[in-house]
Amino acid sequence: MLLLVASAIKTDDFDLLSRPNESLNMNRRKLLIAGSASIIILGTAGGLALHSNLKPARSPWSDANLSLEDPRLAALSFAILAPNPHNRQPWLVELRDDLGLTLYCDQARLLPETDPMNRQIVIGLGAFLELLEIAAGENGYRLQMDLFPEGEPELVLDERPVAHILFIKDETAIKDSLFVHVQERRTNRLLFDIERSVSLSHLNELASAIKGVDDHLGFTNSTEKVGQIKNLCRGGWETEVHTKRTHAESTRLTRIGEKEINANPDGISLSGPLFEGLKLAGIMNKEAMDDPASRMFQETLNFYNGLIETSMAFAWLVSPGNSRKHQIGVGRNWVRVHLAATRVGLAFHPLSQVLQEFPEMLEHYTQLHELLNIEGPSRVQGIFRLGFAKNTSPSPRWPLETRLINI
Ligand SMILES: Cc1cc2nc3c(=O)[nH]c(=O)nc-3n(C[C@H](O)[C@H](O)[C@H](O)COP(=O)(O)O)c2cc1C
Repeated sequence: MLLLVASAIKTDDFDLLSRPNESLNMNRRKLLIAGSASIIILGTAGGLALHSNLKPARSPWSDANLSLEDPRLAALSFAILAPNPHNRQPWLVELRDDLGLTLYCDQARLLPETDPMNRQIVIGLGAFLELLEIAAGENGYRLQMDLFPEGEPELVLDERPVAHILFIKDETAIKDSLFVHVQERRTNRLLFDIERSVSLSHLNELASAIKGVDDHLGFTNSTEKVGQIKNLCRGGWETEVHTKRTHAESTRLTRIGEKEINANPDGISLSGPLFEGLKLAGIMNKEAMDDPASRMFQETLNFYNGLIETSMAFAWLVSPGNSRKHQIGVGRNWVRVHLAATRVGLAFHPLSQVLQEFPEMLEHYTQLHELLNIEGPSRVQGIFRLGFAKNTSPSPRWPLETRLINI
């Protein structure tokens, strides 16, 4: 008999015990709930093998290829690996005849409740453009980029293009040392090692990855300040979860188990034997996740608070303004900092709730800016918990061909 005790958890991409050699043989009728804090799954040998095979959803990570004949497709195969909010992958690309392309934002992939001004979505598009440029450089191409060529959308995004981009052959194009980390980069939502502190030299490495003069990276590893930021992040998280419409937005985008994730490789994915089992037993479903009185709801809340508790350092990315071009620049620096963290072996996890623009969050947003001493028009665009942790699996991605408008 196998016994697994685990907490049910939820955020953007969880893969609990999904490696085949850790798979459980489960018997549906022997899946029980017990105790108030844990979910216990009892299984018998000879039952149903319950691991998640996410090979299709993860294949874009291994398919990224600089040798593709069209240099735009080669660079795009890396750009789609960019970090982006709720893994919405809002990029849509139109290839043009002149070795150019136009980037659009897919209007069906916005997050109207948690990201009402589409700021985080634009940051994701900025990260995409940075990876596009880094990968193009590796192939000897320089990019000429015209951002928001038909004007910057103000309150919310619209159908206008985000960027026109031209690929120009140039043997002096910059080869960026961060390129080799693009396929290894992961958002890490595990508990961090509380015995291992993060050194200032590591944090300085992250800050030195910032390009340009606009943005800067603040950071701290002081126990007192880390504690204060943890409290604010916890407040932000609890506010998001207790605000019905913002929590429901996340629930709606949750994919549970291999079948749902491979069919829709985006959003918040919950995989591995635990979630396959809970789904099979009918315990894990969107209704339960939305219901504040349910165990699922409470477990979710507690789990993320547990993650925040193990933060060993924080870094925060600040821009001097909040125009669409600032947000694109932030996205470019966001992924650079994340790649630098990957290079030095630091686990990196954004905690964005406290920065979100819905009215219930304003108090936490203001307190964070006061604590970090950031005055308008400057603002914090991203805050990241840092530490050391085991590595995690790559998050799902839609294949490149599904993101091209005109093939
Ligand atoms: C603007 C932005 C905000 C994000 N906020 C969060 C967050 O609050 N919590 C979280 O777990 N991940 C957050 N992420 C990470 C994304 O969920 C992650 O990039 C996405 O799921 C893809 O996974 P990957 O980074 O491992 O490729 C954020 C990413 C971006 C670009």
